Amino acid sequence: MQLLLILGRAIALCAWFALSRNSTYYNPVLSGWHSDPSCVHVNRTFFCATSSFLSFPGIPIYASDDLIRWRLISHVWSRDSQLPGVSWNTTATQGGLYAPTLRYHNGEFYVASVHIVSTVDIEVFGVVFRSIDPFDVGGWSDPVRFETTWRIDPDLFWDDDDTLYVATSGIFLQTLDLDAGTVGNSINIWNGTGGESPEGPHIYKKDSWYYLMIAEGGTALNHAVTIARSKDITGPYTSYHQNPVLTNRGSDEYFQTIGHADLFQDANGNWWGMCLATRSGPEYEVYPMGREAALFPVTWEEDEWPVMQPIRGVMSGWELPSNTSSVGLLNTDPENYHFGADIEVPLHFVYPRVPPKTVAMTANGMQVVPTRSNLTGARDEDVELTGQHGIGFIGRPQTHTSFEFRVDLLFTPQAVQEEAGVSIFLTQYDHIDLSVTLLDDFTNTSHTKYHRSRRDEGPRMYFNFHIQSSANDTVSQLTPVPADWVTHAIRLEIIASNTTYTLYASSVLETHRGIQVGQAQARIVSGASGSFVGSVIGGFATCNGAGTTNRCPHQDIAYFQTWRYVGLGQQISSDVFVNTPTAL
Ligand SMILES: *[C@@H]1O[C@H](CO)[C@@H](O)[C@H](O)[C@H]1NC(C)=O
Ligand SMILES: *[C@@H]1O[C@H](CO)[C@@H](O)[C@H](O)[C@H]1NC(C)=O
Ligand SMILES: *[C@@H]1O[C@H](CO)[C@@H](O)[C@H](O)[C@H]1NC(C)=O
Ligand SMILES: *[C@@H]1O[C@H](CO)[C@@H](O)[C@H](O)[C@H]1NC(C)=O
Ligand SMILES: *[C@@H]1O[C@H](CO)[C@@H](O)[C@H](O)[C@H]1NC(C)=O
Ligand SMILES: *[C@@H]1O[C@H](CO)[C@@H](O)[C@H](O)[C@H]1NC(C)=O
Ligand SMILES: *[C@@H]1O[C@H](CO)[C@@H](O)[C@H](O)[C@H]1NC(C)=O
Ligand SMILES: *[C@@H]1O[C@H](CO)[C@@H](O)[C@H](O)[C@H]1NC(C)=O
Ligand SMILES: *[C@@H]1O[C@H](CO)[C@@H](O)[C@H](O)[C@H]1NC(C)=O
Repeated sequence: MQLLLILGRAIALCAWFALSRNSTYYNPVLSGWHSDPSCVHVNRTFFCATSSFLSFPGIPIYASDDLIRWRLISHVWSRDSQLPGVSWNTTATQGGLYAPTLRYHNGEFYVASVHIVSTVDIEVFGVVFRSIDPFDVGGWSDPVRFETTWRIDPDLFWDDDDTLYVATSGIFLQTLDLDAGTVGNSINIWNGTGGESPEGPHIYKKDSWYYLMIAEGGTALNHAVTIARSKDITGPYTSYHQNPVLTNRGSDEYFQTIGHADLFQDANGNWWGMCLATRSGPEYEVYPMGREAALFPVTWEEDEWPVMQPIRGVMSGWELPSNTSSVGLLNTDPENYHFGADIEVPLHFVYPRVPPKTVAMTANGMQVVPTRSNLTGARDEDVELTGQHGIGFIGRPQTHTSFEFRVDLLFTPQAVQEEAGVSIFLTQYDHIDLSVTLLDDFTNTSHTKYHRSRRDEGPRMYFNFHIQSSANDTVSQLTPVPADWVTHAIRLEIIASNTTYTLYASSVLETHRGIQVGQAQARIVSGASGSFVGSVIGGFATCNGAGTTNRCPHQDIAYFQTWRYVGLGQQISSDVFVNTPTAL
């Protein structure tokens, strides 16, 4: 009896202990546009790679000690010479580098991906990059290229005998010889459970089973994670009778499109997964950050199928590892730059493609040399106007539902149509901009669409509030810049409050006299022509097609002297808003 009591107490204590040690945290842990996460755990550090599509540098690598605080440490593709000329030749609006797989093998990190050049001529090739130190910003190799026969989402799996297998969408399996860049015959190993687009495969070996986990249903509302297993890597694979193992399809959850997951273990042997998620609710209309990365605990008993916790804004599961390092900017940290010659372009700043030589740090601030192509570019004209050869734009992903962003911009255009400002940029066909531009009231060339607010002599400066929308009318609204503002830097500000962006302008001399120049709904930069990507907030400069090469005839440089981004809050369910996600 006494023994039983003690035993009972011990069990109760154990249960309490287990409960108290489980942790609670908020999703998404890697907020902002971070689709298709693939992660590994190496020596108490977790590493994740995510998709980057057309952006340059491409395929960001994040590191974390505690699975919650993620720091950008390098990009797999950081030199044009790793894929020379490929960016400028890519015609697909959402082409570029797709869904990577990150793995660690024999002391080296490997990233496999495909680059989609054209969806019309179906031009796709596979790439594998490697690095012995992912913290080394320039440490990723030139890629080995391989043929994928239009299939995407290559996995990397080394079997016990060191044979390297690549599974791709479909789902197909083949061997890959990394030295030769050659692949073996492909075998169709699984079709999934019947959802469209079986893709994003990852293979794991556990308890002498090969587990094949995939995404299916397409990357929108029907997205789901399904799994199958086999004793033989080439199959036949048996589908789990309780598939899908992870999805929010058919639910009214705020987090939707759950899928494209990868699994890994922490130092205590507990399993976790990362997947993509969209904070949109079932309406799936407003999600300016696109597909983000969410963390989920996994219970995976010996010989059993893995049990994954459904994705919610507030999660509870295994004890989180503790963080030991505090080096580098976290993904959600505020930033406040006073750019000068001695400052480097921040690691997390990205261009829409490989840029022309346009951005540099100077004593005046971060310079953006205007490109002839504007943010939209022109279709069916010479290639320099399409934006394909780079656009004078640099930015950072929107990582919060609500945030404040502002720059002090020094820009004194000498020629009409020159323009510089800030943008919430999803794609060339969906963006929201606030700029300063010099216009001539008597020119009736490319700006006839503008409402004329004044008729007098000579060009003058305007604020241009512009909405480019593939789903709606394009709006351009001009407001004259007060005459006494033009000689100094202009402060341009974007305040995102839940689903509305409000754009303000002022003179740095009198920031209290700011004017609200425009307002736009986040819905404009949600989905549309950019359903795979997410919004990037940043600064641009262009001469709107003047001249004949990608260089503008007047190189009137835009200087971004200061740059400030501060997250104000995250929406994590239909009615819950929190500050920056961390462990509770
Ligand atoms: C693991 O990390 C520790 C601490 O960062 C480091 O000292 C050690 O060398 C690492 N070990 C390996 C095998 O990388
Ligand atoms: C880019 O396209 C041009 C024209 O089609 C072609 O000649 C060139 O080889 C391509 N370059 C690369 C790196 O694909
Ligand atoms: C996948 O579907 C195709 C077409 O229906 C079929 O020929 C093939 O055998 C299926 N593959 C597997 C592994 O079931
Ligand atoms: C702790 O989290 C794990 C993983 O989600 C779960 O299996 C377990 O039941 C949790 N324990 C308690 C006491 O809640
Ligand atoms: C953990 O991360 C937080 C936030 O970056 C930091 O303040 C804290 O010092 C870190 N803990 C350790 C042990 O480094
Ligand atoms: C501007 O030019 C367009 C065609 O080039 C013409 O249709 C339009 O009437 C002109 N507008 C004014 C105000 O002159
Ligand atoms: C966003 O909306 C929520 C709920 O409607 C509200 O509680 C919150 O204050 C709003 N946040 C901002 C910054 O407006
Ligand atoms: C397009 O504009 C209409 C009217 O202003 C608005 O109701 C609708 O929500 C807009 N659609 C998008 C996708 O922004
Ligand atoms: C962008 O540039 C093209 C010419 O390259 C021009 O036709 C178009 O009007 C410009 N867009 C804006 C918003 O100025």
